[in-house]
Amino acid sequence: EKGGYDYFMLKEIAEQPKAVADTLLGRVDASGSLTLDEVRISASELREMDKVVIVACGTAFHAGLIAKYAIEHWTRIPCEVELASEFRYRDPILDPRTLVIAISQSGETMDTLMALRHAREQGSKVLAICNTNGSTIPRESDAVLYTHAGPEVAVASTKAFLTQLVACYLVALYLGQVRGTQWGDEIQAVVRELSRSSQDVERVLDTMEPVRNLARSLADKPTVLFLGRHVGYPVALEGALKLKELAYMHAEGFAAGELKHGPIALIEKDLPVVVIVPSPRGRSVLHDKIVSNIQEIRARGARTIVIAEEGDEAVAPYADHLIRIPATPTLLQPLVATVPLQVFACELATARGNEVDQPRNLAKSVTVE
Ligand code: F6R
Repeated sequence: EKGGYDYFMLKEIAEQPKAVADTLLGRVDASGSLTLDEVRISASELREMDKVVIVACGTAFHAGLIAKYAIEHWTRIPCEVELASEFRYRDPILDPRTLVIAISQSGETMDTLMALRHAREQGSKVLAICNTNGSTIPRESDAVLYTHAGPEVAVASTKAFLTQLVACYLVALYLGQVRGTQWGDEIQAVVRELSRSSQDVERVLDTMEPVRNLARSLADKPTVLFLGRHVGYPVALEGALKLKELAYMHAEGFAAGELKHGPIALIEKDLPVVVIVPSPRGRSVLHDKIVSNIQEIRARGARTIVIAEEGDEAVAPYADHLIRIPATPTLLQPLVATVPLQVFACELATARGNEVDQPRNLAKSVTVE
């Protein structure tokens, strides 16, 4: 049932192009318009919403952090993202004009369930993004958008995460569409790019051999740091989480702009630092800033592992290891940038002799608070 792979995680990483394509299937038409039949919150209600709040845990929370950039950019509705375990204990401000989005692969995570119950008690509408048909979270929500990743067996989430991103983009673009924001043309262009994204994920998967070799060479390192900016920041957090849970290594993700406010003190000779580089097109200011971050850490001896778009030549001189990803619109970059980090963590776990599918102390779904 592992389909020839040593681990479910490897199989699930390999299934990502299909998972992404299946999650898009039937939701995007040729003209670039979206139909999300399962979102049973009417277009007029969606037009009234003045705030979006996303609640989730772990990897799903990282998908939520990325969704915030997309939702605020395409819809101009303020969006907050909160760990479900923190949410209801701080008496959050919620009302019928707040759209709450609960993201959960299993649909059974107790913290996320408690957060959505609290939101509904305050009169907010809840949209679940979920991978498990008929599970508790979608049953208790006002609407659901299912991700179509198929069953995810490995404890570490991979294909479910990519499909959560797709679902978040769809919701963001759909909200933009029903609200008729100024980004109409951009939205249509992005919808077209999104429909091609499964091919991009496939291309990344075809080039992972150097990433596996690199991971094996780092098996005895105590620490790996991850840096990103904009949507690359949650990708850095996700890369660090995967490494903690699978390789049991100390790993941390930082917003690259925060380096000089503290973390740069951690940089020392030979410390591996993975940097996710934003596209040089589009928000090129961010690109230039991160290139200077890479120079700064390299000058202090860090071993730089750079994930950058094909054709981005400016970073190449500062990369001890360069991992190429296809050029994509900035907001969609996490779909391709996360994949090497999954492969990296899986290979490091294997090299360290860890149980990849069943990391110590963890359960696939956390049904206690
Ligand atoms: C990490 C991981 C966990 C889950 C989290 C939420 O790889 O799998 O962090 O993402 O426990 O689970 P769901 O999405 O089922 O609510």
